[in-house]
Order: sequence, then structure tokens, then C-alpha cells
Amino acid sequence: MNTMMTIGWDDFVKLSSSQKASVLKADAGQGMFHILLAQQFGRKELDDLGDLATKIRFIAKTDKGAAFLGSLLPQKRVMLYFSQPSTRTFLSFLAASQILGMRIGEVRDASVSSEFKGESREDSVRTFSSYYDCIVMRTEIGGLAERMAWVLSNTDRPVPIINAGSGKDQHPTQALLDIYTLQRSFEKAGGIDGKTVVFVGDLARGRTVRSLSYLLTNYKKVKQVFIAPKQLQIGSDVVEMLKSKKVNFELGSKFSDVIREVDAVYMTRIQDEWDQKKGESACIDISSFNFKTEYLHKMKKSAVIMHPFPRRAEIPTEVDGDERAVYWRQMRNGMWIRTALIASIFGKNKAILDYELKSRK
Ligand code: CP
Repeated sequence: MNTMMTIGWDDFVKLSSSQKASVLKADAGQGMFHILLAQQFGRKELDDLGDLATKIRFIAKTDKGAAFLGSLLPQKRVMLYFSQPSTRTFLSFLAASQILGMRIGEVRDASVSSEFKGESREDSVRTFSSYYDCIVMRTEIGGLAERMAWVLSNTDRPVPIINAGSGKDQHPTQALLDIYTLQRSFEKAGGIDGKTVVFVGDLARGRTVRSLSYLLTNYKKVKQVFIAPKQLQIGSDVVEMLKSKKVNFELGSKFSDVIREVDAVYMTRIQDEWDQKKGESACIDISSFNFKTEYLHKMKKSAVIMHPFPRRAEIPTEVDGDERAVYWRQMRNGMWIRTALIASIFGKNKAILDYELKSRK
């Protein structure tokens, strides 16, 4: 029995993120179905997804391999429903769906859909589920992807919903590609365990940081440092989550003080689209939270610089040429991990893993 059908929305929405993740895991059984929260991913899922993404990357290098990947899901259709602006998440999901041979529909502007005529989001998403087998959605409304997953689970077309960024709360697939980038970056340096990760910038409104902070708790002895202006420091819910998991963490405001000790710097831009009053972010002096080229001389040689992008002035383009600047690779990793995620949702992971085994013979 689908657990989301047996629990009322009012009860579901009151659960903690971990409790919600348990409900979603129970529904999915051994596999994956709705992807809504970082809390759905434990160490095994992260390792498995990373391995699958790496296999896909290698398979896609040859024409034969690309044709094989493209033969996996030609009968499936995916809807990309992005009611909030996006470049990377939209395009990498589009590319991931193309890699797997899926057919793709999109709604990016509610003013050209019947939402303009007053149709509710629930009815829009139910309509998509009539035509499509999976809905990838980005929305400015926190919790909306969860609500839509619950709505669809209570219909006769319970197609999977993938949260591609919801409000200020979660961006789980960005966190998956961030973890994959860290896995790859530290592959020959003992993995992610034991590393120090510093988050810098607008942490209060950064959904990528919230999701990644949670995923990092799956690793042993990872220290998390949050460097931000007081007004934009990480939220109390993340602090409480880290305390409850006995994670070593620090909050601070002096970026230059921590640069020598870090293994990964995770830069973020000021997210003024969430300003309550127009221009309020402009009053915050963020200049000391930008990455300065002189930091390149102070950082460890093995450290990496990440950014979910888009960026503004927080990383000067002069840094791009340094081999520790991995944000362009990080972006491309999004395509591979999202391909792995969609393949897993549709049960194609074994076929992909077997392809590699056969091709070695
Ligand atoms: N990182 C990220 O979510 O980028 P987009 O907003 O361009 O999708």
C-alpha cells in the first residue's frame, strides 16, 4: 500500500524531514520514486548513485554506448515544469532525459499555460500526469513539490515527482551533484570522510546549502563551517539538525580566517530574489564574503572551490583557470547524476551496470 495514500496531508506536512523521508522510502520499496528531500539519501544511495553516474559517463563516450543509453527509456515521457527561472537544472535534466532516449515536454511560463486562466497548481500537475510518466518541478513555493507528490499518490496516475528546487527549503538534486563532485574530487584522497567544508555567502536563503549540509552528515568526521553576514547566516533548523547528529560545525563571519584549513569551499551568491523589501540585500556589505584571488596561495593544494551557480562577483573569473576551481565540472556532473537518478527511478540501473560488465569481455 502506498503510504502517502494512507496518511492525510495535514498529518504528512507536520512530519519532520526525516519522517517524511521514511514515508517516501516505504512507498518506493527497494527503489526510488518521488525525489523530494535530501533526507531520502543515505550513504549507500549516494555511493550507488555516484557509481552509476560514473558508469553512465564512461558508457556515453562511445557511439555504441550512447545508443545503448538512448535505448533505455524511449517509451517514457518527462515533463519539465519550471515555474521559477533556471539554466543549469533545467538544461541538465533535459540533457539527462535525452541521454536516456526519453521524450520531453516543458512548461516554463505559467502565463502561457492555463494557470493564467486560474487553474490551480494541483490541477496543472494532475494534467501533466495524464500525459507524462515523470514530472520534474522547480517552484518558488516551499513544500509545493511535496504537496504535488502527495496529490498524485492519491490518484490513479501516481507518477514520480522530482524536486528541482522548491522555495528556500530544498534542492536535493543539486546536493546530489555536489556530493558527486566531492566524491570525484577526493577519490584519491580518502573520499569525503574527514574533510572540512566551508559554506560562504547567503546561507539563510540558500536551498542548495540546506540540502548539501544534510547530505554531508552521511559522511564520517566531516566538519561544516558556515561563513556569512549575521543577517544571512544559516537557519536554526540546520543548526539543530547538525547538533542532533553530533556533527562538528562552526558559524563565523571571517572568511580569510578559515581558508587555510578547508578542503572544499562552497561559495553562494546573494539571493536577493527573496528580499522581503525591494533592495534590502543591497544594504548588506558582502564584499568580505567574496573569494579573493590571493586565497589561492593560502588554500591547500588538494582543496576544491565549488559554486552551484549562477555567480555574480563572489568568484572572480581569474580563479576559473586554477585547477582547484571545479565549478564547471560540478555543473556537468549535474547531467550525469540526474541521468543516474532518472535511470534508477525507472529501474534501469542494473541494465546500465551490466552493460559495462559485458563490454569488458
Ligand atoms: N544551480 C542551479 O540550480 O542553477 P539554475 O538556477 O541555473 O538551475
